[in-house]
Amino acid sequence: MTTVHHATIERNLALELARVTEVAAMAAGRFMGRGDKNAADAAAVEAMRVTLASVDMDGLVVIGEGVKDEAPMLYNGERIGNGNPPEVDVAVDPIDGTRLLSLGLPGAVSVVALCERGTMHCPWEVVYMNKIAVGPEAAGAIDIRASVADNLKNIARAKKKDVRDLLVVVLDRPRHADLVREIREAGARIKSITDGDVAGAISTAMEGTGADALIGIGGAPEAVLAAAALKCMGGEMQCLLWPRDDAEREACRAAGLALDRVWSTNDLVGGENVFFAITGITDGELLQGVHYFGGGATTQSIVMRSFSGTIRWVEARHNFRQLQKLVRGIGITV
Ligand code: FBP
Repeated sequence: MTTVHHATIERNLALELARVTEVAAMAAGRFMGRGDKNAADAAAVEAMRVTLASVDMDGLVVIGEGVKDEAPMLYNGERIGNGNPPEVDVAVDPIDGTRLLSLGLPGAVSVVALCERGTMHCPWEVVYMNKIAVGPEAAGAIDIRASVADNLKNIARAKKKDVRDLLVVVLDRPRHADLVREIREAGARIKSITDGDVAGAISTAMEGTGADALIGIGGAPEAVLAAAALKCMGGEMQCLLWPRDDAEREACRAAGLALDRVWSTNDLVGGENVFFAITGITDGELLQGVHYFGGGATTQSIVMRSFSGTIRWVEARHNFRQLQKLVRGIGITV
């Protein structure tokens, strides 16, 4: 594993990353409500790849669209960027909430994270992880191996609230029936989301969303992306592997991954200099989506850097006539 000191990454790459998620969101936004997940994904991936290629970095995609044979672009192991230092790991989710976008529902986002080479870790042996995520006030108060009731009690204490004041974000899935029952028995409230647990995790660290915790089983790559954001915001995430079947259980065993091992924020994203960008595609509680006007569009993004702890909201107005000059010939349609 290579360790690169934060001093080697001096620029705030998060600002450059906002361009990447903005363009991906604008390309994907064209497919809002059009019922074609694949076309939306292809457009977002292509837009993201072209813009990432111009970023001043030697990037290695560690969380991408999958393995090379199945993913023509942004596959795991692909080198991206213009090849100049710094050497970084790159995690992408061109659309988190593909179903939301294709059905025209709120909350689809485009996400990218970077950190020093060799510091981002996704357990590929499983599709899902069991997650608990909180914002800065409750960091240090969670323990994924403890009961839901105990976690909620500790989160409430840390936030100087009652348990009944808490709002827990939960993906609406049949596998969460017991979790929902336990949260209800503890007396807390639930915000049910149909997709998009990266934004759900981030919302726990954002003032004004009302969310106190995200609990439940979601994608493992999404756990890494959420950990990158929470690291920038001073929040905390803990996860456990959640094998779906015997084949995944066996893969974990073969890789020496204990199922009771807690994956901390730092286990998922160990770098000291993490960069994160997220742009709204459809309107959501965290971010407004892409709004098109004649000849252009507006976007809303959040960009963050862990080393400085700075979180920026970026509102952009894009002029497509000008933008086409930049992207003409490389096949992106915005
Ligand atoms: P995609 O946009 O890649 O489909 O992911 C959406 C999502 O809701 C993630 O945010 C979440 O981690 C995962 O799917 C949950 O998986 P599943 O839909 O299989 O329960």
